[in-house]
Amino acid sequence: MRIKRTNLVIGLLLIVWTSVLYLTFPYHSINSNEVSDVVKQIVILEQGISREFEKNNVVIKDAQELLEIKKKGEIHPNIVDQKELQDVKIPVLVFACNRVTVTRCLDNLIQYRPDPDQFPIIVSQDCSHEETRNAIQKYGSQISLIQQPDQSDIQVPPKEKKFKGYFKIARHYGWALNQMFFNFNFSSVIIVEDDLEVAPDFFEYFIGTYPLLLKDSSLWCISAWNDNGKEGLVNTDRPDLLYRTDFFPGLGWMLTKNIWFELYSKWPRAYWDDWIREPLQRKDRSCIRPEVSRTRTFGKTGVSNGMFFEKHLKFIKLNEEFVPFTKMNLSYLLKENYDNGFVRKVYQSPIINYQDLKDGKVRHNVPTRIIYKTKEEYKLITKKLGLMDDFKSGVPRTAYKGIVTFYFKGKMVHLTPDAIWTGYNISWS
Ligand code: UD1
Ligand code: MN
Repeated sequence: MRIKRTNLVIGLLLIVWTSVLYLTFPYHSINSNEVSDVVKQIVILEQGISREFEKNNVVIKDAQELLEIKKKGEIHPNIVDQKELQDVKIPVLVFACNRVTVTRCLDNLIQYRPDPDQFPIIVSQDCSHEETRNAIQKYGSQISLIQQPDQSDIQVPPKEKKFKGYFKIARHYGWALNQMFFNFNFSSVIIVEDDLEVAPDFFEYFIGTYPLLLKDSSLWCISAWNDNGKEGLVNTDRPDLLYRTDFFPGLGWMLTKNIWFELYSKWPRAYWDDWIREPLQRKDRSCIRPEVSRTRTFGKTGVSNGMFFEKHLKFIKLNEEFVPFTKMNLSYLLKENYDNGFVRKVYQSPIINYQDLKDGKVRHNVPTRIIYKTKEEYKLITKKLGLMDDFKSGVPRTAYKGIVTFYFKGKMVHLTPDAIWTGYNISWS
């Protein structure tokens, strides 16, 4: 009986406990309306979250775009640090031999030199020609004179006897550049030959473009020379315009010690300028060249015996207007900007035919493009238009990625390869 009563109590307690649990359990208080409210809230929450995601995506995209613009902008601000530039010493190395007219070159350099301390002029004389030496020494402390000590005869293969001068020039260049970089320890040098005249902004041009040479490892020289810089083929209203070129122009040019480090130990016995243009030396690098030349040669009789002089060199237009390059933004010449800007625009320009250009039948007011497909075609077109028609290591004069840009009857024209450019053909000569 006692057990029975205990069981009853336990049973009752269980019933009460279960009821309490049942009545107090939360789900019991949610009716079906409330359930659909919660579901709605969850849906709203989900929608809110996905809206936030979308917003975030827009923000991320904006940020990416901003970064892109900023990246471009960062290359764009003037990369010329005025203060730093004032401190660099950039010597001008003048190569002389037996031409007393070196004075014409030196007068010019001294006249336009903004600061003798920043731009020391060092004349290196070969050939032991006394009259020339005397003429140079008359400049006193305005310049320094060094003399190439090795005047021994050079053994030249019989076939090349008449080219001995080129062997002497190469020997002189090798010695003098070693002096400049390893003895005087300059970090860059502007090279000028004794038969060059320079433009009023010659120094400004080099100091202004120097930061590009330091910053852009795809550049290996700055040159003052436009190989197609004849009066009728340039735009004299655009002396500020500069280009990249795969063709090493020389004739007033700047190189850095780093480049000399690459070259000095394999420096050739002769024909240094053609050698430097070979792929092994150039390594796909480019130079900067101006629209209007900052040098002009008056060396009618020289080692190459005026081969090009009468036909070509004497017509090169020397710039007369001072362009403040150090105050200008030249970042369009950096490889990335140039390839995405200039080169892309070239291929967007309307195609014309050289005969129409010659006959003045081209009506476009924008730069145009003429296509060449073969070496023969290139030679024909350039001959007809008065451009230089030769190649060195397959590279046409002034070409950048095969593009040769010039002005004709006041309009910009690009002579370009036809398809997507795959590189120079070294057999084109
Ligand atoms: C041509 C190039 C020149 C290049 C040379 C070497 C042109 C217009 N000129 O010389 O840039 O350096 O080929 O391949 O394209 N010199 C000496 N020692 C000599 C003879 C000359 O040092 O025994 C000097 C001259 O003073 C001058 C330079 O070498 O500064 C070039 O001589 P030049 O007679 O002008 O030869 P180019 O035919 O113009
Ligand atoms: Mn010369």
